[in-house]
Amino acid sequence: MESFLLEAKNIKKEFPGVLALDGVSFNLKKGEVHALLGENGAGKSTMMKIFSGVHKKNGGELLLNGNPIEIKSPIHAASLGIGIIYQELNLCPHLTVAENIFLSREFTKGISVDKKKMEIEAKKILDTLHADIDPSVKTKNLSISKQQMVEIAKALSQNAEIIIMDEPTSSLSEREIAQLFEIINKLKKNGKGIVYISHKLDELKEITDRVTIFRDGKHILTDDFANLTLDEIISKMVGRSIEDKFPRLDRKREENKKLEVKNLTNAFVKNIDLDLYGGEVLGIAGLVGAGRTELCKTIFGAFGKYEGEIKVDGQLVNISNPQDSIKHGISYIAEDRKREGLAINMGVSQNISFSILDKISSKIIGYIFQKDLEKHSNEMVEKLKIKTPHLKQKVKNLSGGNQQKIVIGKWLLRNPKIIIFDEPTRGIDVSAKVEIYKIINELKNNGLGVIIISSELPEILGITDRIAVMCNGKVKKILETKKTTQEEIMHYATQFND
Ligand SMILES: Nc1ncnc2c1ncn2[C@@H]1O[C@H](COP(=O)(O)OP(=O)(O)OP(=O)(O)O)[C@@H](O)[C@H]1O
Ligand SMILES: [Mg+2]
Repeated sequence: MESFLLEAKNIKKEFPGVLALDGVSFNLKKGEVHALLGENGAGKSTMMKIFSGVHKKNGGELLLNGNPIEIKSPIHAASLGIGIIYQELNLCPHLTVAENIFLSREFTKGISVDKKKMEIEAKKILDTLHADIDPSVKTKNLSISKQQMVEIAKALSQNAEIIIMDEPTSSLSEREIAQLFEIINKLKKNGKGIVYISHKLDELKEITDRVTIFRDGKHILTDDFANLTLDEIISKMVGRSIEDKFPRLDRKREENKKLEVKNLTNAFVKNIDLDLYGGEVLGIAGLVGAGRTELCKTIFGAFGKYEGEIKVDGQLVNISNPQDSIKHGISYIAEDRKREGLAINMGVSQNISFSILDKISSKIIGYIFQKDLEKHSNEMVEKLKIKTPHLKQKVKNLSGGNQQKIVIGKWLLRNPKIIIFDEPTRGIDVSAKVEIYKIINELKNNGLGVIIISSELPEILGITDRIAVMCNGKVKKILETKKTTQEEIMHYATQFND
C-alpha cells in the first residue's frame, strides 16, 4: 500500500460555536503539490494549523510516513520536518530578517549569538529566491511582499520534508510569483511534499498535481488537477456555479467631479493629474512599487503635506492627515489590513463600528449605544456575508478572508463620497469577490466616486470604467477600460524611462 508523507483521517476541530472541521481527510505524497481549496472559512487554515501543531484536533487521526503521530506544538512539528508559511504573516517586526529566519535556531559563537553568520546564511537562502532583501534590516521596515519572501525563506531554511504554503502569493508581484514557482518546482523534484492554499485559481496550473476541496468544514473531493476544469473547481468550492465573475454595471457617470487632483507631488509621487467623477469606478494599475498605494495614501492625508491641489466636489481642500480626508468624505481601505485596519483582539461589532463611534455614542458621557452598534454591525455582516458565530467574536478568530470583509464593512458604514479600495479582493474567495464587486456597483450606482488599486488585471478590466496606469510614481496614461487590453496596460506600466 502506498504510504503518504502525511495523512489526516476524519479530522474534527471545534471552536466555541464553530465546527471548523467536520471529519475531513487529506493526504500528501512525496514530490507533489497538493492544492487545498475552498471558500473563506471553509477550514483550510485550521487543517494546516493542526499539521503545524498550533491547534489540537478534537477527533480523527494523523499519520506521518504511515505511522500514527500526535503533533504537540509548532516546535514539535518543525522537528518532524513540517514547515509552514502562515497566511497571516507571522514575523517579529522588531527583529531583523536574519533573526526572523533563524528564530529559536540561532547560530551561536561561544555564549553569544553569531549575527554575522546568521546574516550570511540568510542571504544565501534569500539569493536562491532572487529576493533583494538586506538580512540586517528589521522586518517592520519591509513591504508586505518582502515580508512574505522572508516567511518563505524561513520555511525553506528549515529543510522541511513537508512544506505548507497558506496563500503565499497573495502580496507578491508577478516576478516574485514566477520565482516562487520555480522554487516550488525544484522542491517537488527533490521529493518534498507541498500543500498549497490559494484563492488565485488561475496560477494553480503552473504547479499543482492534485486538488482537495473543502466546503463548510467538509471534504468535497480529491482528484488530479488534470481531471478538473477551473469552472468545476469553482462550483465544487461554492456549491453552485458562478455565471458572471465580473458583474459590470453600465451607467453614465455624473457630470460633476467628485475628486480633482492637480500636479500632486511629494516624496513618493510626481505631478499627478487625476479626475474622478461621481458614479464612476477608476482603476489604478501598475507593477508593485509603481506608487499606486502611495498616491492613494497621499490623497488620504497619510503622508501629511504635499504640493499641488486636491478638490472634493469642486472645493479646494487642505488635507494634512487622515482625519481631514475622512471629514471631506474620503475613505481609504488599506492593503495591509492587519496593520492598518483591524483591532484583532476586539470583537466583530467593535471593529465594524469603529469608524462611526462618534455617531453612535453620547458626546457627553462617552456611552456607546449598544443597539445602534448591533444594528449597524448586523447590517454589514449580512451585506458582506461575514462568517462569524456572533458579533462579539474576536476578529483574530475569523478566517483570513472574513477579516478582510470586516475592514471593508467598517468603511462602508461611514457613508463616504469617495472610497478608495487598495487590493480589495486579496485573500477573498471567488464568490465573495463577486459580492464585493456588487457592492462596488451599488456605490457607483449611488453616485459615489470609487477608486480601486488592483494587481489583478482581469479584475481591473472587469469592473472599472477608466484605468490610470502608474510607473515610477507617475501616472503614465489614463485609459478607457472598454477600449483597452492587458497588453496596453502593461505597456504603460513598464515605461520606466521617462
Ligand atoms: N482560533 C479560532 N477560534 C474560533 N474560531 C476559529 C478560530 N480559527 C478559525 N476559526 C473559525 O473556523 C472556521 C474555519 O476557518 P479557517 O481559518 O480554517 O478558514 P479558511 O478556509 O482558511 O478561510 P480563508 O480562505 O478565509 O483563509 C471559520 O469559521 C473561522 O471563523
Ligand atoms: Mg485561511
